Amino acid sequence: RDIHLIGAPMDYGADRRGVDMGTSAIRYAGLAAALEDAGNTCIDLGDLPIPRAEERDPDAEQPSAGNAKFLREVKDVSTQVADSVDATLEDGAFPLILGGDHSIAIGSMAGSARNADLGAIWFDAHADLNTPETSPSGNVHGMPLAAVLGRGEFADYEWAYAPRVREESIAYVGLRSIDDQERELVRESEMTAFTMSDIDERDITAVVEDALEVATAGTDGIHVSLDLDWLDPKEAPGVGTPVRGGVTYREAHSALELVSQRDAADDILRSMDVVEVNPILDEQNETAKLAAELTASAFGKRIL
Ligand code: ARG
Ligand code: MN
Ligand code: MN
Ligand code: MN
Repeated sequence: RDIHLIGAPMDYGADRRGVDMGTSAIRYAGLAAALEDAGNTCIDLGDLPIPRAEERDPDAEQPSAGNAKFLREVKDVSTQVADSVDATLEDGAFPLILGGDHSIAIGSMAGSARNADLGAIWFDAHADLNTPETSPSGNVHGMPLAAVLGRGEFADYEWAYAPRVREESIAYVGLRSIDDQERELVRESEMTAFTMSDIDERDITAVVEDALEVATAGTDGIHVSLDLDWLDPKEAPGVGTPVRGGVTYREAHSALELVSQRDAADDILRSMDVVEVNPILDEQNETAKLAAELTASAFGKRIL
């Protein structure tokens, strides 16, 4: 594939500084070389300009929606990410978006779904389905799916809502931390939710094959969203919201290899983001290295 890397060093969607350094950390871990070794071409478009917290005008008007924090910044970044993803697809290339916190998935999915019916696989410990009303934290990285689905107050935000993403085409893999009000939202939704218990019972291969069916049925392609806190914190300590009991190194590789095999057969992949790497909470840039390796697995890296 002809992959274009789009950096979105965003941290307004999360509580902690440091996740904005994820883009540098993943590049430093050798992502572009790993993708090229796996048989792809890779062009780095650099980082989108994201206002530093220290440079923001604290008096500028901030739209308000429930508890959501920094909506003005989230809108600005989402719009840039969406335009950049759309332009990359128009070029005939593959948009690989590096985060940054998970709020950037609003822009990746909105851009990817501008001219296509889009399914998605959400590899994450969290459901990220809070609306500004239900969010206990106010952090938009816990809301990107609510945003693209136009739920709650997001229905009024055309920069967020992506009408060509349907709930029934979204599958979660690896859930294990859901807020009380959010649980009801997940239960009532038409999304398919595979939790860690499903992986325990059925193994990662069966679960990811089902997730691929959900995301590809009746869509033009799929978005893969890889939140590094999907993995167990023993393997991926450099994330802002670690939750123990996550997938292992082998399970994660196996999952992304399955995505890649399916893509080789049916050309299903349309866009991907890799998010929530926070190198200042890490040791030896371990989590970014893992992110680079897993991404290479999604783009054709094989042992033999
Ligand atoms: N559910 C929590 C919240 O809404 C945590 C979300 C964490 N999301 C993430 N992308 N790491 O704040
Ligand atoms: Mn190009
Ligand atoms: Mn998460
Ligand atoms: Mn997430």
